[in-house]
Amino acid sequence: MSENSNPLTAPPTQTDTGEAFGVYVHWPFCLSKCPYCDFNSHVRHGGIDEARFLRAFETEIAATAARVPGRTVSTIFFGGGTPSLMAPTTVAAILDAIGKHWAIASDVEVTLEANPTSVEATRFRGFRAAGVNRVSLGVQALDDTALKELGRLHTAQEALDAVAIARANFERYSFDLIYARPRQSPAAWRVELLRAIDEAAEHLSLYQLTIEQDTPFFALHAAGKLIVPDDDTARALYDMTQEITAARGLPAYEISNHARPGAACRHNLVYWRYHEYAGIGPGAHGRLVVDGRRRATATERRPEAWLSRVEADGHGLVTDDPLLRSEQADEFLLMGLRLAEGIDPRRYAALAGHPLEEQRIAALGGEGLIETVDGRLRVTRAGFPLLDAVVADLAA
Ligand SMILES: C[S@@+](CC[C@H](N)C(=O)[O-])C[C@H]1O[C@@H](n2cnc3c(N)ncnc32)[C@H](O)[C@@H]1O
Ligand code: SF4
Repeated sequence: MSENSNPLTAPPTQTDTGEAFGVYVHWPFCLSKCPYCDFNSHVRHGGIDEARFLRAFETEIAATAARVPGRTVSTIFFGGGTPSLMAPTTVAAILDAIGKHWAIASDVEVTLEANPTSVEATRFRGFRAAGVNRVSLGVQALDDTALKELGRLHTAQEALDAVAIARANFERYSFDLIYARPRQSPAAWRVELLRAIDEAAEHLSLYQLTIEQDTPFFALHAAGKLIVPDDDTARALYDMTQEITAARGLPAYEISNHARPGAACRHNLVYWRYHEYAGIGPGAHGRLVVDGRRRATATERRPEAWLSRVEADGHGLVTDDPLLRSEQADEFLLMGLRLAEGIDPRRYAALAGHPLEEQRIAALGGEGLIETVDGRLRVTRAGFPLLDAVVADLAA
């Protein structure tokens, strides 16, 4: 196939997702484990049998496609872990397997998460040739002391070099930063954020540091050895982030994700708009419509156990549950209200079998936490920091 006729290598175009179908592929390995991270990521000093994992990915893709045939894939996301540690030929083979079992949209978005420590120009050219057309880089901070404290193996300059390589190879790239870090002042974050915006193209993910259970940061925090900004400072950092990004043309389209108009990550929109997606690889989650019924799926988390299961059973599923209407409606609300565009209340009513309660909407609206604009219900700037409580109230 020539470069332009192959939808996996042709330049991406921007369209609305419509009824999208996404494929998430999880690569569960990293060079080292960051002390704040509770993702399903593992270090294997003895190396990984990548060819064996590839065969298992191909097997699981075939099994999933047999359950939900006839879909057209609009987005593919290689997440991790650190998928940039995969050989470009492995990525190409996984994309081939997806294209063998499902149709691929002509404007398919194919994102790969990359850690700056595993970014080299040749590798990135290989990912591009394989069909990846968007990368998301884990920069985390533009400050060497902070990077060390976060346990990162790269410096700020190395991260910026990786951004330059991404820019040279991909029309679409994004990078992640973590803020509300220990001792981070609003003034310091302002400087760092402005620098990041200068380096960004169309998309930035800006996450507040979360102290996750069972991580080294959790233990340090519990022992009083890791002090994170108090609630007021965190709120000030959040407000500043919203103001600066909006003023610079990268407003939040989701709590932690910022993009120029039309440049949102379409794969993540599949989750937040509650469309259908397949989860492939260890610990991947999916939402599949099988025989007209939406199901929640999840695979075995432990990489080697997942591998054995796929080799023995042809898939790694450990959860495959039909969802009740009420569960679907709650999930739709939980995901959709993260978005600045909010939700269509009619879709909630169709899923739940009853509309949202007018009185609750009026009460939360009266508190300035939600609003209805052009028939869509959305959370206000003041409501976003209280999102969980707002959703719980609406769904109750
Ligand atoms: C699965 S990681 C993928 C990127 C790649 N592995 C890396 O670290 O460069 C996705 C992102 O989640 C964010 N993240 C992970 N743990 C976090 C935490 N405890 N608090 C805030 N953000 C976190 C980081 O910004 C990270 O880039
Ligand atoms: S933040 Fe990224 S590199 Fe660090 S352990 Fe998590 S997935 Fe791996």
